Amino acid sequence: MRNARIAGTGRYLPDKVVTNHDLAKIMDTSDEWIRERTGIQERRFFAQGKDTTANMGTRAARMALENAGLQPKDIDFIIFATLSPDYNFPGSGVLVQEELGIREVGALDIRTQCTGFVYGLSIADQFIKTGMYNTVLVIGSEIHSSGLDLTTRGRAVSVLFGDGAGAAVLQATEDKERGILSTHLHSEGKYAEDLAVVDPGSSRDIPRVNVEMIEKGSVFPVMNGNHVFKHAVQRFPEVILESLHQNGYEPKDLDMLIPHQANLRISQFVQKTLGLSDEQVFNNIMRYGNTTAASIPIAMSEAWEQGKIKEGDLVCLAAFGSGFTWASALIRW
Ligand code: UT7
Repeated sequence: MRNARIAGTGRYLPDKVVTNHDLAKIMDTSDEWIRERTGIQERRFFAQGKDTTANMGTRAARMALENAGLQPKDIDFIIFATLSPDYNFPGSGVLVQEELGIREVGALDIRTQCTGFVYGLSIADQFIKTGMYNTVLVIGSEIHSSGLDLTTRGRAVSVLFGDGAGAAVLQATEDKERGILSTHLHSEGKYAEDLAVVDPGSSRDIPRVNVEMIEKGSVFPVMNGNHVFKHAVQRFPEVILESLHQNGYEPKDLDMLIPHQANLRISQFVQKTLGLSDEQVFNNIMRYGNTTAASIPIAMSEAWEQGKIKEGDLVCLAAFGSGFTWASALIRW
């Protein structure tokens, strides 16, 4: 069986920078509170009329293709991970197919929130391993800012999230030592409402949208922050070790851990638990906040550009979030 390797990565971040000080002007919060608890200093917000979840993904994809030395026409399949799609349906993947102007390849949207990119990578890996496709585009793209409660009522959630997109092009390789070594996917649905947007559009409500939802704020994300934090610091190390041990490695063998950028304190906790050095963990949440499905491909793209991951490196991607879902991928770059 052949392997799937990451041939190119790309990203797109909207131009508008929103600092913690900017948020403190519109809600009761402070730079100090946000930095201390999350490490976030600023995030990006999309430009209405210019950026969409799909076209940000397309821009990230174009960069990934260029880095891979490939053309849009080389893509056999598109996987699009997002919790903030352009439409309720259809998914955003089909829009990328159109924007790239390519033949009628399959386009699959997946919705596992913060773990969306790692789940997407796992799906792409299986398609390539079985020989069904040679080149698969995996995108994570999010516009959070239009769906956040940017008032004091929503501050516990809204200061965390930002907009952005990242992408990777996966290609088949006959080199068994290289590429995605394994992926590990998990979920625990009993905690579904601990980090969720319940309305509007919930299929159990008649009608699906009503004024009460807007008044009580159930159209905004809700999070049981302490609970999410406690589970995250347990599940991240677990799923990272699962990937390392399955392949006969220990944390010391890792060249780079790219954790989903949920909270710098979570990443630091994970780093300490696994005994990793600062050089072994990539963080950029300070500049972008939590971009859910986009955070790992944005980070991969920056780490590669900065020379922090190189060919031959052992790289682990790991994520935890809404669902709860958690996942990892171990890659020989
Ligand atoms: O991808 C997964 C996505 N989510 C996460 O990873 C989030 C995991 N959880 C966390 O990172 C943390 O729980 C938070 C950073 C979200 C919150 O930190 P915390 O230390 O758990 O704070 P808290 O929610 O217990 O709130 C502490 C205080 C409260 O005030 P009182 O009740 O002590 O008077 C909040 O009302 O801080 C208040 N508060 C804020 N103050 C200023 C909550 N949000 C804010 C805010 N600015 N933005």
